[in-house]
Amino acid sequence: MTSTATPMSSRLSIDYYNATAHAVGDRDGITDEQIDGLSGRVATEHARIHAEHQAGEQRWMNLPDDMALVEEIEAFAAEARERYTDFILVGIGGSSLGALATIQALAHPFRNMQPDGVRVGPRLFLLDNPDPEKVRATLETVDLPNTLISVVSKSGQTAETMANFLVAREALVAAVGEEQAVKQIVATTDNTSGLLRVLADSAGYRTFPVPDGVDGRQTVLSAVGLLPAALAGVDIRQLLAGAAAMRAATQGDDIRTNPAYLLAAISYLADTEHGKSMLVTMPYADALYGLADWFRQLWAESLGKRLGTDGREVFAGQTPIKALGAIDQHSQIQLYTEGPNDKLIALVRVGGYRSTVAIPNPPAETPELSYLANGELGQLLDRELSATAWALREAKRPNLTITTPTIDAFALGEFFYLHQLQTVMAGALYGVNPFGQPGVEAGKNATYALMGREGYEQLRTDLTQSVQGSEAYRLTAAGQG
Ligand code: PA5
Repeated sequence: MTSTATPMSSRLSIDYYNATAHAVGDRDGITDEQIDGLSGRVATEHARIHAEHQAGEQRWMNLPDDMALVEEIEAFAAEARERYTDFILVGIGGSSLGALATIQALAHPFRNMQPDGVRVGPRLFLLDNPDPEKVRATLETVDLPNTLISVVSKSGQTAETMANFLVAREALVAAVGEEQAVKQIVATTDNTSGLLRVLADSAGYRTFPVPDGVDGRQTVLSAVGLLPAALAGVDIRQLLAGAAAMRAATQGDDIRTNPAYLLAAISYLADTEHGKSMLVTMPYADALYGLADWFRQLWAESLGKRLGTDGREVFAGQTPIKALGAIDQHSQIQLYTEGPNDKLIALVRVGGYRSTVAIPNPPAETPELSYLANGELGQLLDRELSATAWALREAKRPNLTITTPTIDAFALGEFFYLHQLQTVMAGALYGVNPFGQPGVEAGKNATYALMGREGYEQLRTDLTQSVQGSEAYRLTAAGQG
């Protein structure tokens, strides 16, 4: 059966039998004919993607090769790990999610609570949302004289990031003085353009580049993701080695053996032929929850497009959802199993967890718990995944399982590259440009207008006029009944 346990030359494997008509029936499962029917298009798009790469586009594919950058980051991080106790990452969306996914997967889960000397690298604090409560609490918690502020923005003008940076910078200057503050700030941004570049150059901050021709959500394997990861002690060479291994494993144009194209095709067919307009990513490991979050942004911003590449309205995209096994078995699975049959569910299995915790024998008073005796927590979690995959299949809910033998930097690199190529191919199948994010830009511009930024006066007027007459549709609970 071609649809079971496709091996890859990298270490990940995919079992997609439960997504097929063989397992869940013709109405909900993809058929072999449908997969084979896409093979010509996939091969054509593969040729286009590779031709574009040859022509200097699709530059995200080159990121695993920048060893000069790796050396520069390693040298910076080695010093910073010694020097600082705290590290504030200021960035949002593609400028922080990849770093978080990496650190969550590979660092100690309670690293911020580990004492200095035990913890690898400084404590990490994230300023993504401009939430005044969180920002204030962060600045009250860190030890500013021993804090590195790393501000990350490709455009160099994202309102949330720049506002958070200005606040954090002011606090740092107040604590250590202007001259010293400059030494405690590092900026990752475009090499030549953007307001953050202007700030960095005029103040003299140390900078790292966001590579040209790469969208924010594709930057996890650039300085954007690598610098925070290295600060947390991640082996970034292994991260890139995993990505390079996946790149090698995805050179072919065969839909059945290229794992990225297979995943793209399954999702696309599930959505467009079987009404599975949502894609759930559900790792059975707390450490991989951040990876699901990173993928959620990648899938949403890349595929959610109004216009196709031919200029026609398509309103494409598949809503990505993140869930965590086994926790969401007690929250979401009821809906996934018996609610609307509109989801494809991608489970992520870990072959071997990094810790083994034996379950002790239960006391004699509770013989009903003896089934747990001699068991192990990872075994329980893994069997819960198998049980969920089976229960979903029984309910005719298509699902697939991606297995990694363990969670390490190499595996993370594989996942990052796999999902990026999967997304690029999915964009091709949907007929949309997976790069750019015009919908995000519209909101950013509206924010500038509402905050009174110069050059956005007309938009501000339009926005103000658009709310006229809306009072009639507001309800204030206070004072009712
Ligand atoms: O993927 C993207 O391009 C976006 O999610 C951006 O990363 C996000 O909007 C932040 O942008 P910037 O890095 O320019 O501050």
